Amino acid sequence: MNLRSGRFKQKMSAEAAEFTSSLEFDKKLFEADIECNLAHTTMLAQQKIIDPETADKIIRSLKKLRKEGITALNLDYDVEDIHMAVENYVSSQIGEEAGFMHTAKSRNDQVATDLRIVLKDNLEDIQQEILVFMEGILQLASEHEETVMIAYTHLQHAQPTTFAHHLLAYTHSLKRDYERVKDAYKRVDLNPLGSAALTTSSFPIDRELTTHLLGFQDYLRNSMDGVSARDFIAESVFSLSLLCTTLSKICEEMVLWSTYEFGIVEIADEFSSTSSIMPQKKNPDVAEIARAKTAILYGELMTILTILRALPYTYNRDLQEISPHLWNSLHNAQDILKLVANMLLTVKVNKERCLKLAKSNFATATDLADIMVREKNIPFRTAHKIVGRLVSHALDQNLKPAQISTAVLDQIAQELTGEKLDLDEKLIQKVLDPLENVKSRQVPGGPSPEQVQEAAKHLKQFIFKERNIT
Ligand code: ARG
Repeated sequence: MNLRSGRFKQKMSAEAAEFTSSLEFDKKLFEADIECNLAHTTMLAQQKIIDPETADKIIRSLKKLRKEGITALNLDYDVEDIHMAVENYVSSQIGEEAGFMHTAKSRNDQVATDLRIVLKDNLEDIQQEILVFMEGILQLASEHEETVMIAYTHLQHAQPTTFAHHLLAYTHSLKRDYERVKDAYKRVDLNPLGSAALTTSSFPIDRELTTHLLGFQDYLRNSMDGVSARDFIAESVFSLSLLCTTLSKICEEMVLWSTYEFGIVEIADEFSSTSSIMPQKKNPDVAEIARAKTAILYGELMTILTILRALPYTYNRDLQEISPHLWNSLHNAQDILKLVANMLLTVKVNKERCLKLAKSNFATATDLADIMVREKNIPFRTAHKIVGRLVSHALDQNLKPAQISTAVLDQIAQELTGEKLDLDEKLIQKVLDPLENVKSRQVPGGPSPEQVQEAAKHLKQFIFKERNIT
């Protein structure tokens, strides 16, 4: 079917046809386009807009195409897009009657519908993958509730925590990423079909029926909005960008933690590479590439927003140029998620090194100040000053936290306040011990094994609930 033969005398130039064709990146719409045509044709017949026998022929030919696959289509460059390619196929099978399929339908509402169908599918897969990853992290965390490690602020030793607590920080970020994807999905799940070119049709089409047949939650209530809206794409790519931000942060930590200097984890061979010249090398390439590929998502989001910016209502061909950026975002987000999950879930944790770091650098100093407040009713600011001076003194004298005695502490307290503290030696050692320190943090959200178990329980319930409704 040559669309142009009515209106034009000339064919489009070959270069213009190639320049404007979306066929290459429309391929992902192939199956959705068949579904869209099937639903629309079924509805046309039901509404007695087209003859049931014609509808039957169209439907049979579409189903045949679905079975044969995309290779059955003529995808020459002068076929403008997938919608024309599918229509041409039906015409080649049943002749002119194929033309009834396009009654009260435009490629404008069709492409918007196809995009939503495919995107929904991808977002569902991504949501499931996030849940699987979260579950995997919880499993790993359950093995490390007492694996004491150092936690950082400004990338400097801050306070002790456990490996499990740190892993649960990842899980909670991923939970929000999941919820954001799920929320974006709600606005993808709206049917534009029936908007036709932009103002619906004078045929009595049944939008509820196609909405039901295509499995959408609802249909878009304004036909002009229906064909021009692509915010659902921007929003989905944004939610995936944030998901990848979380993943890139995990990667960054794996890169750092697997260094000789940190030595906290070892990334599995399967996710590492070596050097062509330095035979001793083990490089965290998967983490690095995932960290870098996150930038692709940000770039695609910017491109999509910039294409959308200031477009007049309703359909503009500009919109077509969004599709390849959507596909690229989806495929990169899916790859990053899969690889980062598999990499993280196979790391080997060096518990001794974790503990050594937690013990080495006065990370428990906050709690030493805290017992002065608790036991001796000293204002926290004064206690903070005493402990700060103590750490400075210990560093000068090369004293380790375990060597801090009541006497040293009293000497410093006396210098600063004129009074001794007289703290119990055992108590001092207890608060300076990182595991005891962590166990004492019984506040919800904190690192004590009980609190971590509690948080993990809630996350498991969340995963279970989500699995059973989606
Ligand atoms: N290939 C087009 C797209 O992806 C389909 C819609 C074409 N509509 C039109 N009026 N030219 O947006």
